[in-house]
Amino acid sequence: MTRPGQDTAWSLGVHGGAGVNRGEALLPDHRAAIRSGLETALTAGARVLEGGGSSVDAVEAAVRCLEDSPWFNAGRGSVFNARGEIELEASIMEGRTLAAGAVAGLRGIRNPVTLARRVMERSPHVFLHGEGAIAFATAEGLETADADWFWTEHRWKAFERARGIAQASAPQPGEHGTVGAVALDTAGNLAAATSTGGLTNKWLGRIGDTPIIGAGCYASNAACAVSCTGQGEYFIRATIARDIAALIEYGGQDAQTAARLAIEQRLAKIGGEGGAVVVDRSGTIAFAFNTEVMLRGKVSRDSPSRVGIHLADLC
Ligand code: GLY
Repeated sequence: MTRPGQDTAWSLGVHGGAGVNRGEALLPDHRAAIRSGLETALTAGARVLEGGGSSVDAVEAAVRCLEDSPWFNAGRGSVFNARGEIELEASIMEGRTLAAGAVAGLRGIRNPVTLARRVMERSPHVFLHGEGAIAFATAEGLETADADWFWTEHRWKAFERARGIAQASAPQPGEHGTVGAVALDTAGNLAAATSTGGLTNKWLGRIGDTPIIGAGCYASNAACAVSCTGQGEYFIRATIARDIAALIEYGGQDAQTAARLAIEQRLAKIGGEGGAVVVDRSGTIAFAFNTEVMLRGKVSRDSPSRVGIHLADLC
């Protein structure tokens, strides 16, 4: 909601997944690539916001960067499902209007977040899946990418490891990840976007929390914008993103308390692991996670960018 005379503060928070620090998953080279990827996403989103652009433009720009990196589980760096294939999903939401768009079951679409935005802005629907979503992407002229673009050695190794250990039963804990961004723009509008390849070794057709509005993504100018990462089934059951917004809107909590309550109590109570990034109407960015690491970053009009991986990292 734009108010005459309001200040021009802006803020951006991003995440690149939460999980446990398993062996090669965070070797020093990988850690450096993650930090650099998060910085690139922050720079892209901040450029939009600094120039007076919208929070929707900013979260899309930031998430596209993360989708194009091979180091995050979204777009190019996505994990493999139980068939050794990649199925992508994403969502986006605008806090001013509560407009939202989501996509799932995608193959070969380079930037799922952009397709989610097209669903939000150029379709009468909120959520498109599979063949229909891909047909819409084609009609919209969105960029495609072949299997080579999406294939990464570290994800393939994780898939083989999961197959060997789990024999196509449960997905491997610790291999999950998602990317996301939340923003407040200079007009006072909030937005959130989330994108993922899901879980390593997930069943064909499995959909996680990422494209579920209210679970992995939510934005309302009445409260905050939220993007989540973690074990999707639990985030769906606990409606974590909407829960955080409700704790702020109806419960009068601040962003950090709301995020902490939702993750450490509501999510953890049913056995879920993961985290969330939140931005509230004042531009405060909050992170909460109950995993060993959460790849994350933030920047605002008043503070230079910071990125963090472990809890102790100042971010
Ligand atoms: N949060 C990612 C997933 O469960 O798919």
